[in-house]
Amino acid sequence: SKGAALVTAVAQRLASLKRQVVETLSPFRLNQAQLQLVKARMREGLEAGLKMKGSSTVKMLPSFVYHTPDGTEHGKYLALDLGGTNFRALLVKFKKGLQQNARLYHKIYTIPLETMQGTGEELFDHIAQCVSDFLDYMGMKNAHLPAGFTFSFPCEQTAIDTGTLVTWTKGFKATDCEGHDVVSMLREAIKRRNEYNLDIVAVVNDTVGTMMSCAYEDPRCEVGLIAGTGTNVCYMEELKNIQKTKENTGTMKRDDGIPEGEQQDDGTEREKKEGDAEISKMCINTEWGGLGDDGSLDDIATPYDKEVDQNSINPGKQRFEKLTSGMYLGEIVRQVVLDLTRGGLLFRGHVTEPLKTPGIFQTKFLSQIESDRLALLQVRSILQQLGLDSTCHDSIIVKEVCKAVSHRAAQLCGAGMAAVVDKIRENRGLDHLKITVGVDGALYKLHPHFSQVLQKTARGLAPQCDVTFMPSEEGSGKGAALITAVAKQNQP
Ligand code: GLC
Repeated sequence: SKGAALVTAVAQRLASLKRQVVETLSPFRLNQAQLQLVKARMREGLEAGLKMKGSSTVKMLPSFVYHTPDGTEHGKYLALDLGGTNFRALLVKFKKGLQQNARLYHKIYTIPLETMQGTGEELFDHIAQCVSDFLDYMGMKNAHLPAGFTFSFPCEQTAIDTGTLVTWTKGFKATDCEGHDVVSMLREAIKRRNEYNLDIVAVVNDTVGTMMSCAYEDPRCEVGLIAGTGTNVCYMEELKNIQKTKENTGTMKRDDGIPEGEQQDDGTEREKKEGDAEISKMCINTEWGGLGDDGSLDDIATPYDKEVDQNSINPGKQRFEKLTSGMYLGEIVRQVVLDLTRGGLLFRGHVTEPLKTPGIFQTKFLSQIESDRLALLQVRSILQQLGLDSTCHDSIIVKEVCKAVSHRAAQLCGAGMAAVVDKIRENRGLDHLKITVGVDGALYKLHPHFSQVLQKTARGLAPQCDVTFMPSEEGSGKGAALITAVAKQNQP
């Protein structure tokens, strides 16, 4: 009959649509062999970065943090945190000897886009103004507190309190900052205000802060991971493997700043004091987001990824980060959705204005859409809020696209993590390593599936490691305060 023929035709049409969608998404599905390759390339990146100065895509930057906390940290510290979409000022108080005894007050300030992408002076003046507001708020304008500066961008450090910005990443583009010491820039901005004093004793990457804050509670924590706006990892590396620091400073400095074996003022060689901990490791900020900047991930990147990279403010840079972090996942989704729409597979083939708007799919939106508790009708209502009229069928496809993009991101991070923990295990000549990874970032904490997939992938690719993932609380701020505490205690 006519009716039956129509039903068959519709069913065939749907099956063919489905096939085309599956085909479009297939390059996002990585098999085990591809993930092994990513792990191997990350490992090569880590090794190359430790050896050569400046010429590896994985920068492997020394942090001048030699120990995880030991619980003796105490006092009041200010932590200033710049790196995501906000600036945060925190006051942290530690009590000696008491585990998990940190009190925290904080305030969040937004950074206007024109400040992120204006001049360096404007950016640092803005920060100094936020700090001024926070000190007023806390009633501490005259306190002259020691401060730690969490600055979540690649910095070439030569001491705990100097860091030269190598290159901006994520959405930042302020002029006259690259190649300059960001601590000096902040000190100068504070001087220009001539209103309060701060003693900036440490500059800290957010990964390092996260690792430190988790290590305060779990001494097995020797890795820090951020999966948020950007992505990055730090870990404790053996000093003997960090060749470029030897080139930089001649000898390694101890925590007190006096190089080992160096003569003191009275002419005697500095002896090991009681309480001197053995220094055998240093935390390395890997800046793993740069993996692939030499083209080594081109076989994995889809045409959509290439489009996202080309449209970004730093084309060709941070290629691994662009496959895996919050700032870019929504854009990858948008590129795929655009392509499916142009091919007539979505939104009845109508490419509307919202679809052409960069940044319209925020990570928050991916997290909502992929939530298993959400009914399709709710997915459609989210799309509606973005100005997209969808059918039930459209909403199913959009959800499939989101899933494919975020699943790949989590797998890639997991593969990178497997390389890091296996390296630590081999460093120590162990068959089996038990280790904790401190984690922060909205993608990890708020996305419904990201953390599960990441953990499963990392464990699958590093079977000789028993990896525990520990979400940090107030990670980078608390961690920066801990580092400040140690640096302050060791100041001459
Ligand atoms: C970017 C930055 C890196 C930071 C990460 C997470 O990759 O380059 O320093 O740790 O984002 O915020």
